Amino acid sequence: MMKIGFYNIQGGTGKTTIAANFAYILSHSAKTILIDCDIYGGTSAILFGLEGREHNLNTYLAGHSTIEDIISKHDDLDIIHTDVSSDVFGYKPELDRFETLIQTLEEEYDIIVYDFPPNITEDNPILGYVGELELINKVIVVGEDSIPSIVNSLKTMELLKDLGIGLTGIIVNKYRGLTDISEIIDDVIGILPYDQNIERQWVESSPIVKLKKTKFTKELLSLANELASIYLEKDLASLRALKLAKAISGITEEEKSDLDEF
Ligand SMILES: Nc1ncnc2c1ncn2[C@@H]1O[C@H](COP(=O)(O)OP(=O)(O)O)[C@@H](O)[C@H]1O
Ligand SMILES: [Mg+2]
Repeated sequence: MMKIGFYNIQGGTGKTTIAANFAYILSHSAKTILIDCDIYGGTSAILFGLEGREHNLNTYLAGHSTIEDIISKHDDLDIIHTDVSSDVFGYKPELDRFETLIQTLEEEYDIIVYDFPPNITEDNPILGYVGELELINKVIVVGEDSIPSIVNSLKTMELLKDLGIGLTGIIVNKYRGLTDISEIIDDVIGILPYDQNIERQWVESSPIVKLKKTKFTKELLSLANELASIYLEKDLASLRALKLAKAISGITEEEKSDLDEF
């Protein structure tokens, strides 16, 4: 089970773009769900054309919708979006319901992709909550290559450390060759170019990887597959180790049949 999130304290770096396209790519090979956690400023509904739906994460957290109600589909990808209207300020989120949601989804999906909001105030505490309850494996920081953005990415990495959330690394997005990023930050796992074509995804309500083949989409594709293979293979390896350990120590028939279901 891979539970991965995209985050930066700065807005507009491309978290939603990368989370949505990343999830869309992986949904072709594993059962994947994208969760837009930005209950006040989420934009996944725009990207996937879900604006008109009655049920969303906001209504679920307020106790008005069930889990089934709030899951939408885009090809193989399942999506939980947030309300894009100004109603968002009227709901009172019950965070316990978020834990129930993730525990339920963990049973059903191979991959959970979180798109986190930049601000993590008391009103909008999902990232801290997810970290505390270990509802996530790791976070990828999405940053840009300007000096102010690099400062914010470094700050973001410190914050994640304080929250006890593991870091996979940083993706430098909208790269224009302004600075030699890898010289400044050690944890760069990917560099994605500035690409004007991306804007089309908001108009056409479809992730850019589906609309057009560009340098950006090609590089995101290989990065997503690489990361998934690391996570999912590690999962399989630990599962095999567990089976082996149980076999050696001798287990009951019932436990054995449980394991065989994998
Ligand atoms: N690599 C890129 N090149 C050009 N524009 C991009 C790139 N990545 C994202 N964008 C654009 O930047 C804006 C912010 O992206 P978004 O994914 O909404 O960021 P965030 O979720 O971090 O606020 C959007 O208009 C998006 O189309
Ligand atoms: Mg966003």
